Amino acid sequence: MAKKQSEGYLSGKESRRISKENRRITNELEKQRKRKHIPESEYVTSMHDSKNAVEFDNLHTYFFTDAGTVKSVDGVTFDVPIGKTVGVVGESGCGKSVTSLSLMQLIQRPQGQVVEGAIRLNLGDKAIDVTKAPLSEVQKLRGNFMSMIFQEPMTSLNPVFRIGQQVDEVIALHEGEGKSKEDIKKRTIELLDMVGIANSEGVYRMYPHELSGGMRQRVMIAMALACNPRVIIADEPTTALDVTIQATILDLLRRLKDKINSSIMFITHDLGVIAEMADYVVVMYAGRVVEKGTVEEIFENPSHPYTIGLMASKPVVGKKVDKLYSIPGKVPNPINMPDYCYFKDRCEMCLDCCSGKYPNEVSLSPTHKVSCYRYYEGNPGAVSLDAVTGQDQQRKEEK
Ligand SMILES: Nc1ncnc2c1ncn2[C@@H]1O[C@H](COP(=O)(O)OP(=O)(O)OP(=O)(O)O)[C@@H](O)[C@H]1O
Ligand code: SF4
Ligand SMILES: [Mg+2]
Repeated sequence: MAKKQSEGYLSGKESRRISKENRRITNELEKQRKRKHIPESEYVTSMHDSKNAVEFDNLHTYFFTDAGTVKSVDGVTFDVPIGKTVGVVGESGCGKSVTSLSLMQLIQRPQGQVVEGAIRLNLGDKAIDVTKAPLSEVQKLRGNFMSMIFQEPMTSLNPVFRIGQQVDEVIALHEGEGKSKEDIKKRTIELLDMVGIANSEGVYRMYPHELSGGMRQRVMIAMALACNPRVIIADEPTTALDVTIQATILDLLRRLKDKINSSIMFITHDLGVIAEMADYVVVMYAGRVVEKGTVEEIFENPSHPYTIGLMASKPVVGKKVDKLYSIPGKVPNPINMPDYCYFKDRCEMCLDCCSGKYPNEVSLSPTHKVSCYRYYEGNPGAVSLDAVTGQDQQRKEEK
């Protein structure tokens, strides 16, 4: 009996062909990366705007898996200005973590590769393109110049070392010169106190499994902030914490940012945290940026139908609704992205022209950009949130 060719089914032959092709591509890329002496001219660059700490420019990060190529980040462009916080929001799996891991050169190689684009990092006297720089150069910057608060504290802490040893190591590695063991321990305890761990002396001697999820998250934050980094990537830093500790941590990040003029890339699902923390917002969907702007522009004038849907799906104090809005449908398969707007199959504001190729970015203001056909010249533009969710109808009926 012939095998049923259901969606996503791969024959053995097809799977072998994909693996062979993946090996060919990744071997080629790895050969480039593993060269012994990569000349500075290949990765030293200049910022497009010297006021930016980081510039993501048309970044493409793919994973070459046996099921096919996962286009996790597929042409992402945005800036993180010096001393500002950029909030990155978007549905689970849209590429937020992969974007930040690309900046740290922590993508799981060889299957994960930056295949196109640049990430320019402003080092003050010069700038480097992280995607082309040798690992040894980026390692010098990790921890002290740029540091990351990881999404999963349990997998990021080493289970066989005590908390104290792990934080001490970070300080010793980056700021240890001239410091005695006692000085380093004192600084670790200070950091644990700073992130709100009450029994800091006790926690210093504990193993990660002896701590709660929230405590582990705070240890991660202490490690990330140990060396006063200029660029902080916070990937869902407060998701595992209760609201009071969340407020403390957000305050801590804000103070650090102001103290040394750090820049923060803040990844979260929580629009409330974004509203409180961010100066700029980047909205991602299926590996692309669909809208970006200042926090006021995004919250007061959300323009992409996906952003409009996101805003409508959060509860608002004082606004009575029977049921919160949820965006219908699901994200397209990252292995087989459509060649039209990725949001089209879920979009409730679709126009006839939306079947065309993926829409270009349209400027609504010098800082506010949106990738959607509705804003092309001659098209109707934005619609109100309530018109989409049917809540204006609900209100009329209530009257
Ligand atoms: N090592 C990997 N191998 C294959 N695919 C991967 C790998 N890491 C990430 N991906 C894929 O890349 C896409 C983006 O993942 P990413 O972790 O960036 O999502 P995210 O936006 O951070 O989601 P979340 O909000 O759930 O953390 C997903 O489709 C994911 O399956
Ligand atoms: S381009 Fe069309 S389908 Fe895509 S989000 Fe805009 S209106 Fe919806
Ligand atoms: Mg993530």
